[in-house]
Amino acid sequence: MNILPKPFRIDVGEGSFSFRADGKVATDLPAIASLFGGADAESRVKFVKGATEWDYVLKVTTKGVAALAPTDEGLFHAAVTLLQMAGEGGEADLPVCTIYDKSRFGYRAGMIDVSRHFFGVETVKKLIDTMALFKFNRLHFHVSDDQGFRLRIDALPKLHQIGSERKGTCGDGKPAGGYYTKAQIKELVDYAAARYIEIVPEIDLPGHTRAIVAAYPELSCSGKPTEVASWFGIHSKILCTGKDKVYEALDKIFAEMAEMFPSPLFHLGGDEVAKLEWAKCPDCAAVYKREGLKNLEELQGYFTNRVIKMLKKYGKTPILWNEALKSDMLDESAMVQYWTTDKPSRDRVLRAVNEEGRQVIMSRCDPYYLDYPCGTHSLKAMYMLEPADELGVKDDKGIFGVECPLWTEHVADEETLFKRFYPRALAVAETGWSAPGKDYRDFEDRLKGVLYLLDRRGTVYTPVEECNPGKIKAALQTAAFGMKMQRGCDPSSARNWRSMSLKQPKF
Ligand code: ACM
Ligand code: ZN
Repeated sequence: MNILPKPFRIDVGEGSFSFRADGKVATDLPAIASLFGGADAESRVKFVKGATEWDYVLKVTTKGVAALAPTDEGLFHAAVTLLQMAGEGGEADLPVCTIYDKSRFGYRAGMIDVSRHFFGVETVKKLIDTMALFKFNRLHFHVSDDQGFRLRIDALPKLHQIGSERKGTCGDGKPAGGYYTKAQIKELVDYAAARYIEIVPEIDLPGHTRAIVAAYPELSCSGKPTEVASWFGIHSKILCTGKDKVYEALDKIFAEMAEMFPSPLFHLGGDEVAKLEWAKCPDCAAVYKREGLKNLEELQGYFTNRVIKMLKKYGKTPILWNEALKSDMLDESAMVQYWTTDKPSRDRVLRAVNEEGRQVIMSRCDPYYLDYPCGTHSLKAMYMLEPADELGVKDDKGIFGVECPLWTEHVADEETLFKRFYPRALAVAETGWSAPGKDYRDFEDRLKGVLYLLDRRGTVYTPVEECNPGKIKAALQTAAFGMKMQRGCDPSSARNWRSMSLKQPKF
């Protein structure tokens, strides 16, 4: 049986039960009925809510199938497992067995960046629908960046009127834009919830905000007009830390986003902040002096903590990319998402887990970033990453979960999106769900046996044979990707990049 992610325990007995996935099942949950041939209370395949310490227990006898779970979500997971057990043909003599299953981590996510390239509701739904088949439970939705702001905020209409449109992409001269209406966000949130996936939104702050600043230039240090970025890389036109109107605007954004996204989690970004403008700004200088700050990281820390305080009014727990730890003053309620690969950052994350008791989401760029080609981040490397080993912890206590991000600078269409996402994301789905202990061959065999589920939904993916290229192919793919990244960057990006390590301001 090809079940992915691998269940915690399977006890096999004698005999079998003949099962057809297109038959009706006994359930009152539409999400389960729709995976099979509909609902019928008389069916011998029953989904019943009841007490168990497991996420679900799935029992196959010669007479039928009984799924038991304490929650609807657990029953849905049981249904997904059963669907996979039926296999590609949709009918199977299931061996008599009992599956006892539970997840390793409570947070199992994929991320999609809809700023660098905008993807419509139908594409996002397809992503959610397929993720649910592999027990992912969060979609991190990166809706704001330098190249586009993708929500409609009624109190700040220029965010979608101006901030969602750019004049072109890397010199192609073709206007590109798009944003989600509130009705569309509700449609996505409801669609995801029906599949037991929560959408966690991210407004990346205070860097990666050129689209916000293009809409409302008065929120930047200089106040000068600028345009939504049409090149990638690091941009220095960012939010000012010293102007009250910045915090007032963010509060309006949070208020409307809190209504749109019921998730208790809210991502505040915090990565790659080019601090050039701060270092010359009288308003930033006033905060710096008033607060007795010692360097520009602390200025980011001040900004972030002030924003977190506002966010807490809406009952949200903040998540930040791991650079936010550099100030050494990040609010203790904040979780961090670990992505950078440099040693000082890693050491800082380890300290956050081991000494500060902070919760971390494992998203180490190498190999979890899905925008890189398989030659750089192979399926095997993604599968083999063991979060506890990487974080140097003996158990999973400090690990909130795992997430594979898909940045879309170089992902402009749906086909590329799904080929980047699948099947590598399924390695992360398995790490997020299954008990520790890796066996790549076994994983790959099971993977090949479940890919038909993607085919059925018209979802393309990279063939497994291309997911672990040999050395030469890998080197060529890595070089080509590096060149593409380089060519897509704004000319000022290198200077702005260097400014990320600027410590002392001029004032
Ligand atoms: C990131 O990749 N800049 C979080
Ligand atoms: Zn400023």
